[in-house]
Amino acid sequence: MRSIGVSNFHAHHIERLVDETGEAPVVNQVELHPWLPQTALREFDAARGIRTEAWSPLARGRVLGTPLLDELAAAHGRTPAQIVLRWHVQIGNVVIPKASSPARIRENLDVFDFELTADDLAAIATLETGERTGRDPDDD
Ligand SMILES: NC(=O)c1ccc[n+]([C@@H]2O[C@H](COP(=O)([O-])OP(=O)(O)OC[C@H]3O[C@@H](n4cnc5c(N)ncnc54)[C@H](OP(=O)(O)O)[C@@H]3O)[C@@H](O)[C@H]2O)c1
Repeated sequence: MRSIGVSNFHAHHIERLVDETGEAPVVNQVELHPWLPQTALREFDAARGIRTEAWSPLARGRVLGTPLLDELAAAHGRTPAQIVLRWHVQIGNVVIPKASSPARIRENLDVFDFELTADDLAAIATLETGERTGRDPDDD
């Protein structure tokens, strides 16, 4: 079976794809991290059965210096990267962090045996700034 995946599609790009071809993608890979949680797009995708996949899920590592993430990491006995990756999992994202060392790759996979609370998720939501590490697809 073959499926269609797209990347860097806003909702209006998906609407155009569906209007012009009658086909919807199964996955939409977009920049997504605590600074840019893409809430509206995730809801748009979910309503159409499209999985949202997060690229630069750690904001290229830049979000990891955030004091709130240090606090949550200490509270859960985890690393800040694991807190961010667990947040992705709990809000339903497919997530593709990049790491250079086997130790970090293992660390980044080890997020399936703890859970962030509703208060943790609400706290992480306050980190939204809209900041991108890449270009806005509408500017390309
Ligand atoms: N579709 C698109 O347009 C698009 C655009 C950009 C990226 N992507 C894809 O998204 C994926 C990841 O994106 P990305 O590399 O830009 O950003 P990212 O995964 O958010 O961040 C990677 C950075 O975080 C660091 N890092 C990873 N795990 C860490 C950990 N546990 N602790 C501390 N630092 C950690 C890495 O350092 P080290 O490398 O030193 O370990 C690297 O500097 C890639 O597969 C890329 O191809 C897609």
